[in-house]
Amino acid sequence: MTSTATPRTDPALLDALREDLAAAPFGVDEVHERLGDLAARALGREQVLPARRAVAGATDPLGVLIGCFGLGLPTSADDLAGALPRTGVTGAVALGIVEPHGAHVVATCDLRPYGDDAGHAWWVASDPTEHARTEPLPVDHVLGIGGASSTLASWTPRAQVPRALDVGTGCGVQALHLSTHADSVVATDLSRRALGYAAFNAALNRVDWDLRAGSFLEPVAGEAFDLVVSNPPFVITPRAEGVPLYEYRDGGAAGDAVVEALTKGVGAHLAPGGIAQLLGTWETVAGQDWRERLGEWIAASGLDAWVVQRDVQDPAEYAELWSRDGGHLPGTPGHEALVGAWLDDFAARGVEQIGFGIITLHRPTTQRAPFVDLVEVSGPVASPMGPTIAAGLAARDRLAALDDDELLDRPWRCADDVTTETHAAPGATDPNVIVLRQGGGLARSVRLDTLDAALVSVCDGELTARQALTAISALLDVPTGEALAAGAGLVRRLAADGLLLPG
Ligand SMILES: C[S@@+](CC[C@H](N)C(=O)[O-])C[C@H]1O[C@@H](n2cnc3c(N)ncnc32)[C@H](O)[C@@H]1O
Repeated sequence: MTSTATPRTDPALLDALREDLAAAPFGVDEVHERLGDLAARALGREQVLPARRAVAGATDPLGVLIGCFGLGLPTSADDLAGALPRTGVTGAVALGIVEPHGAHVVATCDLRPYGDDAGHAWWVASDPTEHARTEPLPVDHVLGIGGASSTLASWTPRAQVPRALDVGTGCGVQALHLSTHADSVVATDLSRRALGYAAFNAALNRVDWDLRAGSFLEPVAGEAFDLVVSNPPFVITPRAEGVPLYEYRDGGAAGDAVVEALTKGVGAHLAPGGIAQLLGTWETVAGQDWRERLGEWIAASGLDAWVVQRDVQDPAEYAELWSRDGGHLPGTPGHEALVGAWLDDFAARGVEQIGFGIITLHRPTTQRAPFVDLVEVSGPVASPMGPTIAAGLAARDRLAALDDDELLDRPWRCADDVTTETHAAPGATDPNVIVLRQGGGLARSVRLDTLDAALVSVCDGELTARQALTAISALLDVPTGEALAAGAGLVRRLAADGLLLPG
């Protein structure tokens, strides 16, 4: 099954639609308020019933727009005319965002308000979601804003840059964010329908993107960018009879080859100082550490790399998650066969675990050895994470240029969001566990030994690390050379994640 045409970009009708949506006002906060906390939270979990009840019988413009474009409910043509007075039903039909059905209209797309933490407000059209359909999604479905879109948007650094690239733009959600801090935005996708939605959303939101059709980086051959973002079609999908190859999640290769190719290949398109921010999954076989696999990809890229693994699943968990995606729910025909296909696929490659995370790559501006930092952080982190990524890259860049002697000859101080936590056995006076905790960023917690704890306690921005460690080694009766080596390692780790700052 394939889908219908994507909405059209008639400039006069889009002007009218924009004014109507603004007048409703069809905004993120307004929709939340109109639905109420309960229904809005339920909708966030893709449970539509409370929201349907909240707008049942609504004739106010906001309620009508939520029902028609957010929930896919058949809407009286008169009510839509009231909600879109400048566009009119005829205009909405001409734009291709609704289809007439007698005295009613039905939306052909999902259209919703969207915004960022900096106060930018947009509207985003994409294909109707699963809950607005009665059948599984067609393979050329164009995804709206999902959890992965939001993760990538949150983790992307937002410094002003001359040229940015969004690979696999879909409806253009990342490109909207890029438009706020890039002088020019190129966005690619293999799917013509995705590019149709991206063109509509760019025109509706009055932003200008260079949209290019083609696979991954092919449309930008020979070009370099200051920032590349990609929420690629990274879902590991069995190439087996009956398993739908959804364009939005399958990049046309087995296993994790899509993410591997992007990680290895994106460096050719990064200007000096350029950053690539990618989402990805990676498989590991028995006895393999994920860092080994990622390490190979990164070595081939020749770039600085900082990868944060956020989640790990076993093949059964992965199969359960992705076999139901697209509307193939447990209990529907073929669901068990889908789960089986995923399990067979992983078994054929001996895969034991599938990791998910955020890959940050960086092209250094100087001829130094690249840094590689591969970490696991599964708990809550700051939101947005972009500022942490920007600060962490800058810190790693500085640290990579310092040898241990240079590092030790500087003063360091603890960041304001850092605290220590001590634990002692019942009845004991001295702590046997000391943990350094970061309040923001990656919310790191680092277990300290006595020497570490002593060093951190005197990092006041005045004493150099060498002075501090020399004194501590005498106090603790540890050879100075050993204390300096251990202290340099600790300072490097803490400074990379922003727990220690230059004094
Ligand atoms: C997970 S969606 C991401 C959409 C959007 N960028 C976001 O963040 O929500 C992946 C996108 O990659 C596109 N895609 C699939 N195969 C591709 C390929 N070979 N080259 C470029 N894009 C591809 C899909 O059409 C889809 O729009």
